[in-house]
Amino acid sequence: MKVLLTGGAGYIGSHTCIELLALGHDVIIVDNFSNSKPEALNRIREISGRDFKFYEADAADPEAMDRIFAENEIDCIIHFAGLKAVGESCHIPLRYYRNNLDSTITLLEAMEKHGVNNIVFSSSATVYGVPERVPLTEDMPAYKTSSPYGWTKIMSEQIFRDACAANPNLSVVLLRYFNPIGAHESGRIGEDPNGIPNNLMPYISQVAIGKLPKLGVFGNDYPTPDGTCVRDYIHVVDLAKGHAKAIEYAAAHKGAEAINLGTGIGYSVLDIVNSFMKVNDIDLPYEIQGRRDGDVPECYADPSKARELLGWVAEKGIEDMCRDSWNWQKNNPKGLD
Ligand code: NAD
Ligand code: WQD
Repeated sequence: MKVLLTGGAGYIGSHTCIELLALGHDVIIVDNFSNSKPEALNRIREISGRDFKFYEADAADPEAMDRIFAENEIDCIIHFAGLKAVGESCHIPLRYYRNNLDSTITLLEAMEKHGVNNIVFSSSATVYGVPERVPLTEDMPAYKTSSPYGWTKIMSEQIFRDACAANPNLSVVLLRYFNPIGAHESGRIGEDPNGIPNNLMPYISQVAIGKLPKLGVFGNDYPTPDGTCVRDYIHVVDLAKGHAKAIEYAAAHKGAEAINLGTGIGYSVLDIVNSFMKVNDIDLPYEIQGRRDGDVPECYADPSKARELLGWVAEKGIEDMCRDSWNWQKNNPKGLD
């Protein structure tokens, strides 16, 4: 298949690109480097041994998208492009709505004009908000998120559903990712956040490399086995493989389908900290701090729909995630700079 990846230079997009190239698909990447670097593209070529087409463009720019769709016979799109920092989205909500919603609408318009019917969208477990119960199933209500970022995912999902209702040829897979961590086993690509990381694994990695003095563990008085929050961490390479399955599914079905991509296993913050220290034989200074606003005690997926519809299950475990995250960080202490 010829697959257009918006945001393909980013963390999840670059890993997915490698999986798709390895499977023999042709890839076209569109990215504006708002949260990534051109070097990611060199690394993808190096790891895969294959080339691909690249456009530096904004996925929300109708003229640029029109040109890209006109120049390429696209079979399927994977729409990764988006701003993704939950906290930042509370400070600059309009930028989040403009970027994340305009890119979704622009792509759907280009698809309609050029007769492209299949798209896979990067949604998020954040759409579930405070879970009523765990594990989370796709039929649970998804309209209670607490950040503008989360709303852009809920609203994009709704836009896709409405577009499907109006166009019976359209096929949309809404992949709801849980907590992606880890990196490609080569250690050549990985997550490269700007500034001080907000998320747990990049923070841990930067403490381990000595860039940050210690990890703050946000709360140990939650109703969980060790008191720290529980999440469904998923290796980014497993996630990338899920996308390869999702494009096949999109090509064979019609309508909109939301599918969780998680392992189904919940690990606490301290599970991750302890596993990182053990697997990598490294000390990780940390201290217990107060709770972080907006954190839910427990969030993990029921991944059975992905198994049934996509034939996909996560294969990598917590040790792989901790080893590969560290391997990436220690080999690239300055990220892709
Ligand atoms: P990322 O920031 O590493 O990648 C996103 C890429 O999109 C970047 O390369 C950025 O430059 C590009 N981009 C942003 N807006 C663009 C635009 N308008 N036009 C062109 N390119 C644009 O993020 P990621 O972690 O790889 O996430 C990919 C997608 O998955 C995002 O939509 C994100 O919201 C979603 N998601 C991520 C997580 C996570 O924890 N990483 C969890 C759930 C969902
Ligand atoms: C995980 C756990 C923190 C940092 C976020 C988004 C979600 C999705 C995935 C995009 C929590 C604890 C963290 C630290 C800590 N992204 N923690 N010290 O919040 O589960 O999910 O990323 O869609 O929408 O909200 O991930 O990695 O920030 O936190 O103790 O320095 O680690 O309290 O329990 P989160 P996270």
